[in-house]
Amino acid sequence: MSSKFIRYSTIVTSVFLLVSCSGLKEPVAEKEVLPTPQIIPLPLNSSWNNGTYKVPETNTICFNEGGKRTAVWLQKLLNSANLNAQFSETNNTDCGNWKIVKDESLDLLLGDEGYILDIRNNGVTLKGATDAGLFYAIQTLRQFFPAGIEQNSLSNAEIKLRMGHIEDRPQYSWRGTMVDVARSFFGLEYLKRHVDRMALYKLNRLHLHLTDDQGWRIEIKSKPKLTGVASKGSVTDGNSGYLSQEDYKELQDYALARNIIIIPEIDMPGHIYSALLAYPELNCAENANINPKKALPPDLFEGYDVGWSRFCLEKPETYDFVSEVIGELASITKGPWIHMGGDEIEDPRYKEFVVKADSIIHTYNKISIGWEEVTQTKVSDDFISQEWNGDTESVMEDVKVIESMCANFYLDHGNTADQKNTATWCKKDGLSLQDVYGFSTDNPHVIGVEAPVWTEFVLNNESMDDRFWPRAAAVAEVGWTPEAKRNFNDFIKRLPEHGKRLSQMGVHFFPSPEVKWDSTEKTREVKSVFYNFNPEK
Ligand code: ACM
Repeated sequence: MSSKFIRYSTIVTSVFLLVSCSGLKEPVAEKEVLPTPQIIPLPLNSSWNNGTYKVPETNTICFNEGGKRTAVWLQKLLNSANLNAQFSETNNTDCGNWKIVKDESLDLLLGDEGYILDIRNNGVTLKGATDAGLFYAIQTLRQFFPAGIEQNSLSNAEIKLRMGHIEDRPQYSWRGTMVDVARSFFGLEYLKRHVDRMALYKLNRLHLHLTDDQGWRIEIKSKPKLTGVASKGSVTDGNSGYLSQEDYKELQDYALARNIIIIPEIDMPGHIYSALLAYPELNCAENANINPKKALPPDLFEGYDVGWSRFCLEKPETYDFVSEVIGELASITKGPWIHMGGDEIEDPRYKEFVVKADSIIHTYNKISIGWEEVTQTKVSDDFISQEWNGDTESVMEDVKVIESMCANFYLDHGNTADQKNTATWCKKDGLSLQDVYGFSTDNPHVIGVEAPVWTEFVLNNESMDDRFWPRAAAVAEVGWTPEAKRNFNDFIKRLPEHGKRLSQMGVHFFPSPEVKWDSTEKTREVKSVFYNFNPEK
């Protein structure tokens, strides 16, 4: 038994002595009860029994039709614990100690993302109606294993799993994070890491704020100056750069394999200076659409102000530009949505613009999302509004809503009041873990939650890590677990185990003061069970 395993398990039942005619023998543990796995997000229903399943060194994974993909993830998980695992494709579920059952008729019980995980004394069964549900069964199972699995450091460990039964499905379909790559650029490597961490917590939407006054971060081949000129900027001391279309597609496929859909945002008609700098012909006469005190072409903008630049909405060329950019972006985007921004700008033609932008997005067979300001006018019925400050008087009835209220979800605000380089405009004392966890709504149109990190002051990977973690785990539980089942005190008791796991994964998480973290854990190199793993290969 490795020392890691001893830390992980607790022997709580009696130890008795075996006596034989040859005399006193070694004490033998009759029965041990492992602690309940500290799963985040908390499953909808789980029941535990006191037994354990000791995983053998050699394992057989059998799966029915459609289950192969899950078998590949599971094999990787078991291999990461240095266990041997072979496949056996069969419709006979009595064939091995790991059974994967993909069954569309479970849809009624489990929906698109739910699963059943059953751990008995002779093996483990994973069931789901979809690949996504089965993928989540594996993420739950991953949390049964000691955190060292993330670094593949469990060699010779005796792996035991607490026996039990979990039936789980999410409350909301939208469980997202947003990364502002425009103020300061974060590239493919960091974003893949981020996706990997999101997947562990069953977060399923990654919104990329790709453009703003300071920089343009996505290659548009028909508009080469967006990358040649507009991508060169950032906030003071931030990083510049852009995602090539190849990077974007690679990230998108990496995310999709993990049930995460990318939502690209082109923020319009305001927050658009970087594009106006690259294509100055899109400005009105005498740059009347720009506040010249902030910046004027050909200068980049490195500051922090918002609401001072906008497209020239009188010019037909503006709409040609929007159409070309959205067309190209739609052609490389697999998810159904494109985000048009639409925040923080006043213009007499604003409403006309958002209606046209919505229609352009539909022309390319995508559904539009926008910040809540867009709902000042009526756009398509399938539009999704992203609420961030609650100040908008919406004229749209029954519009679907993503909740990103700044007082609960703006993770660019400090974890604590005194965290340096954090925003304070929405909540001056920062956003504690409890502020995030305590989110509550009775709006029946809410489809989920999303936590943005704006990057005016987030200039390196460690800072991005500590803005998201552990608060994004709270976002995940708010998005997954029904409010009636959530309990903050219980959540913070589950977190220390996750501190170990996040450390093993190389995450520089913020040690929130509410939690009794294990302070002996050190942050390791960036790695994890599924980091850079491609289930197709
Ligand atoms: C926003 O924070 N302006 C959406």
